[in-house]
Amino acid sequence: MYDVVVIGSGPGGYVSAIRCAQLGLKTALVEKYATLGGTCLNVGCIPSKALLDSSEHFYNATHHFAEHGIEVKEVKANFRQMIQRKNDVVSQTCTGVKFLMDKNKIEVHHGTGSFIDATTVAVTSDEGVKTLQTKNTIIATGSKPNFFPGMEPDKKRIITSTEALSLSEIPKKMVIIGGGVIGLELGSVYARLGTEVEVVENLPTLLGTMDGMIGKELTKILKKEGLKFYFDHQVQKVSNLGNQTVVVALDKKGAEIIFEADYCLVAVGRKAYTNGLGLDKVGITTNARGQVEVNDHLQTNVPNIYAVGDVVRGAMLAHKAEEEGVFVAEWIAGQKPHINYNLIPGVIYTWPEVASVGKTEEELRASGAEINVGSFPIKALGRARASMDTGGFIKIISDKKTDEVLGVHMISARAADLIMEAAVAMEYRASAEDIARICHPHPTYSEAVKEAALGATGNRYLHS
Ligand code: FAD
Ligand code: NAI
Repeated sequence: MYDVVVIGSGPGGYVSAIRCAQLGLKTALVEKYATLGGTCLNVGCIPSKALLDSSEHFYNATHHFAEHGIEVKEVKANFRQMIQRKNDVVSQTCTGVKFLMDKNKIEVHHGTGSFIDATTVAVTSDEGVKTLQTKNTIIATGSKPNFFPGMEPDKKRIITSTEALSLSEIPKKMVIIGGGVIGLELGSVYARLGTEVEVVENLPTLLGTMDGMIGKELTKILKKEGLKFYFDHQVQKVSNLGNQTVVVALDKKGAEIIFEADYCLVAVGRKAYTNGLGLDKVGITTNARGQVEVNDHLQTNVPNIYAVGDVVRGAMLAHKAEEEGVFVAEWIAGQKPHINYNLIPGVIYTWPEVASVGKTEEELRASGAEINVGSFPIKALGRARASMDTGGFIKIISDKKTDEVLGVHMISARAADLIMEAAVAMEYRASAEDIARICHPHPTYSEAVKEAALGATGNRYLHS
């Protein structure tokens, strides 16, 4: 009898299993694929960042080296090697998870996990079916790419992010449906490698749920990198004509617009994945979006079955899944854990990077909050001029009465790391003045955080 069986080995599942084992619970992990790590390690965060880094090196070599005084002759992209390096990074990272399972004495069972009853999980593989008896189960089965009628991926020319991470050639042209996180990250990869990238988005701006300034500034930056955007365009149908795809969309006025490309990437969101779990056997309910319904303790309507990560409500992010995995392990062990969902940072790995934590200006104004806003342009920093990464801004929003920081939004080189200063400050409920009075090292991008905080307190900027 296990204390806990975790179904799914993504960041939600494997981290949860580790925390369970650390707390002395006898734990098993069930994964249907041969490698551990889930979407994030196999076909998500890690491979996309590997290709983003490789393509960024190529782009810098072809666009910026000469200005830095570095002359290179005939820079060529060896795409096969880029994909191979990406595969190696993925393989090392997945092996690392296997090592962690062994180190923590977590028993790994490969096969599809499904419920027989509330304390029995069947694991079905080519080798047959085995059953695991367990006091508690954690569902961490993640998500899969979503699509709408008319844009069904055939995984050859009409592809999802999974295929886009393992193409055998650099496309000449790629149409991307959806100007969200995947569209912009993978669009950046291919645009940097020379692909003509067109993004078809049905909203009027990029990243509609983020702070409004982000979408506007990022559109300008990515246009310079060569991406073309078609906003307010509703995709009706996508067809594969052999070695060419045709995307039919309607523009704002209802006129039909045709896009042709050798590949069409469908990136219109992801959906919770519960296929084959046998939720009906235990009477677990899902909501209209297919997500497993949970209470504030991430407990389903069956008290000894929990769910975490992409398969439940909230941001579909690896670090959110991990936090929830740790939360449930500690809850089962009798502790009183806590997650501050308002302080889960979001990062988009374009260059410059986009990062955000807390409330947006639009959300705060809509709620009637009285706020101060400080915003500082990256181009005013000496560090930015030295590296020629001058795009973007850092914006800090604070409460007008108390000066507490309520939201921080940025586009900047290294924003993925800079955002943590904001998250730490907000966790400790810092005021904008607290941040403005902290000595920031010079020359760094972090000086823009201090400057934006100065702006939010109503003080004058020191360097602009
Ligand atoms: P998953 O990682 O989806 O893991 C679920 C696992 O469960 C899978 O291994 C699956 O095979 C297994 N499984 C499913 N059903 C069963 C079953 N019945 N039996 C056994 N096993 C089963 N997030 C970030 O925070 N940062 C990023 O930079 C980032 N980049 C991304 C890039 C891309 C291209 C994509 C697609 C996603 C990215 N994400 C990123 C999102 C991130 O990958 C997910 O939020 C995260 O993987 C969710 O973790 P999870 O554990 O909930 O589920
Ligand atoms: P997304 O939700 O970020 O973006 C989808 C976009 O498609 C939206 O802008 C939406 O308006 C648009 N869209 C929807 N239907 C459309 C249609 N019919 N025609 C045209 N446009 C349409 O989803 P995406 O990019 O697929 O990413 C899925 C998830 O993966 C995200 O929720 C994200 O959390 C996660 N992810 C996170 C990353 C990170 O943290 N850096 C990187 C990649 C993915």
